[in-house]
Amino acid sequence: MRPAQFLRDYWQKRPLLVRQAFPSFDPPLQPEDLAGLACGDGVLARLVTHDEKRDHWQVHNGPLGEDDFARTGNANWTLLVQDVDKWDADVARLLQPFNFLPSWRVDDIMVSYAEDGGGVGAHVDQYDVFLIQGLGQRHWAISTDPAAPRDFRPDVELKQLVHFTPTHEWLLEPGDLLYLPPGVPHDGIAVGARCMTLSVGMRAPSAAELTGDLADYLAERLPDDRRYADPDLVPATRSGEIDRATLRRLRQTLPFAAAFDDAMLLDWFGRFITRYRNAQVVAAPVRPLSPAALTARLVPGAMLLRHPWTRLAWSRSGHACTLYASGEAYPAPAPLAQALCAQSSLVLSNRPDATGIELLRALINAGHLSLRRPRR
Ligand code: SIN
Ligand code: CO
Repeated sequence: MRPAQFLRDYWQKRPLLVRQAFPSFDPPLQPEDLAGLACGDGVLARLVTHDEKRDHWQVHNGPLGEDDFARTGNANWTLLVQDVDKWDADVARLLQPFNFLPSWRVDDIMVSYAEDGGGVGAHVDQYDVFLIQGLGQRHWAISTDPAAPRDFRPDVELKQLVHFTPTHEWLLEPGDLLYLPPGVPHDGIAVGARCMTLSVGMRAPSAAELTGDLADYLAERLPDDRRYADPDLVPATRSGEIDRATLRRLRQTLPFAAAFDDAMLLDWFGRFITRYRNAQVVAAPVRPLSPAALTARLVPGAMLLRHPWTRLAWSRSGHACTLYASGEAYPAPAPLAQALCAQSSLVLSNRPDATGIELLRALINAGHLSLRRPRR
């Protein structure tokens, strides 16, 4: 198949099995070489054993020692070593047939060795992978059902799927290749002894990873004197509000903020600005207040004292109002949010509504406010 046809019809779209993609495949390394590599410092290696009776999976992260291998029997375990292409030039040569892909899109070649029944369980990968059968046989089961559940077991670091119903199954022989796009549930299990699989894995950074790095990149390059500035400021009428003018100034300071709507910008900035410079963390009271206890104590004249280290701000977005306290966001009635921002000690003239009571309870139980009885 020509690369253009593969890219058009399969790449990132559907799995493809190519029998004898590598005719008379001669593995570039032997299982013993892989075990030796797994014992080296700085090598990413995992030894995965499966106790079938108890359905218990054990993952032992490298570097591994000889004792680790001495404990493995002749079934139900696998050794996986990442980045083998960096350590072994013969393995790296296996990347040659994949040079129709951008070189930077390729992450590594992972090599696995398994005894009969060995594997990592049914799972989903977030990147494309070309699985080349190197030695022995492996049974592959995959699901191309787009509605297949993808929830994984929380108890195992291998992120195995809770439910897996295969739609296709094959037995791969040396030289066979299975291409899987991201998100396809799969399970590869060694059939018989000495099963070695070489996986050419792609690099697919998450949007979160890219965003974090881009933010760091920009932060390093933006001049220090490019700052939030408000020469147009007018006297505050609603104390503590992050208002429309603030949003406009934020958008001027951060040109890339155009990518976010007002609600997201407010939520981020409210959390950020109430955390900023907060050198101390307020301590929560030993005994949290129940809703009933708070309601009973909110008598006329009761006073709310704000902790000196607590920073507050609030914002409105549509009908919703949010109070920010030291990086946290709470739904709030606007008049109460405003009063809490304006006064470090506040005497309540009337009892707040249910949202207000819940807000006060959250702030008291986090240590931001304390409640004093009225003076007699
Ligand atoms: C393997 O066990 O070699 C493959 C692991 C995987 O399915 O990603
Ligand atoms: Co996988």
